[in-house]
Amino acid sequence: MPSRRIGPAIGLPRLAFKLESGNPSGSYKDRFAAAALSHMLDRSETVCIATSSGNTGAALAAYAALAGIHCRIAIVETAPAGKLRQMLAYGAELARIRGFGIDPAVTDAVFTRLSEWSGRPGHALQISAYAHSPLGMMGVESIAHEIAADTGDRVDHVFCPAGGGGLCLAVARGFARNAASPAIHCVQPKGNDTIAGPLRSGADRGRRVEPCTTAISGLQVPTVIDADATIAACRSSGGTGHLVSDEEVWACQRRLAREEGLFCEPAGAVALAGAIRALDRGEISADDAVVCLITGSGFKDEASLDRLLAGAEAPLMELADFLA
Ligand SMILES: Cc1ncc(COP(=O)(O)O)c(C=O)c1O
Repeated sequence: MPSRRIGPAIGLPRLAFKLESGNPSGSYKDRFAAAALSHMLDRSETVCIATSSGNTGAALAAYAALAGIHCRIAIVETAPAGKLRQMLAYGAELARIRGFGIDPAVTDAVFTRLSEWSGRPGHALQISAYAHSPLGMMGVESIAHEIAADTGDRVDHVFCPAGGGGLCLAVARGFARNAASPAIHCVQPKGNDTIAGPLRSGADRGRRVEPCTTAISGLQVPTVIDADATIAACRSSGGTGHLVSDEEVWACQRRLAREEGLFCEPAGAVALAGAIRALDRGEISADDAVVCLITGSGFKDEASLDRLLAGAEAPLMELADFLA
């Protein structure tokens, strides 16, 4: 959808948003889960083993419930309560792992253990990254197909938030099949700079961060997963990396709610923060058609709303006192 107020206000009149927050489980991960679970059904697999910071797990748990498949999910330590409760509501079996998503050694160990476990008959490991689950990730490429169909291929830049990098890579691969690909930009919080910094500086390889210091849920991925392929794909599309502070992200989350009526979680506001940085640096221009992905719903992360609301509340009062 076209931006009605933020784009014109910042000098980017052709700014638009690709809304993933309205998907059935509230994030872009539904595209991954729908494809991943369809492949499991095809192969008559019955147990889905997964890692998640919350959104992958919620999407997998929802589609697993529909498919009659049992879901066992290892969750990052700091996953927001709203995402945990959503996964539990769908009937998934969860464990929060101490240090997962913060300490790269623990994060590596989680992936190794789950890979071993998933070798059992009827089990499948579903991690939303090409390195682990390429078939599921092909479902995410549909974001690019939809943007191309909606805009008639007239987009210059697409800004994507990145944790492990799979989303950026999927968007780049989805566009690579089109005649004209926009520049795909990778935006990361400074506290989880595994891809954006190396991409910007000309490096070919992603890097681990020790420890991850961003508070943005969903983007706390300190290990290198799809980083190298993401760097190559973004670079060949003409895009680059952008680093933003958590404060810039929260400010964009607030602006999206207050100026566009878009209620997103902080990770869903990261792309906009990156586009604003790029505009300030003169890396995109006022004539450019720019799409920012809004990747997850505001209902996902209750705690982030405390910051956004800044003390605003709904006082209980008598009717006579309202509008007095
Ligand atoms: C809302 C949201 N946006 C963006 C991302 C980043 O995706 P990726 O880890 O594939 O880079 C995630 C990952 O969990 C997410 O939950």
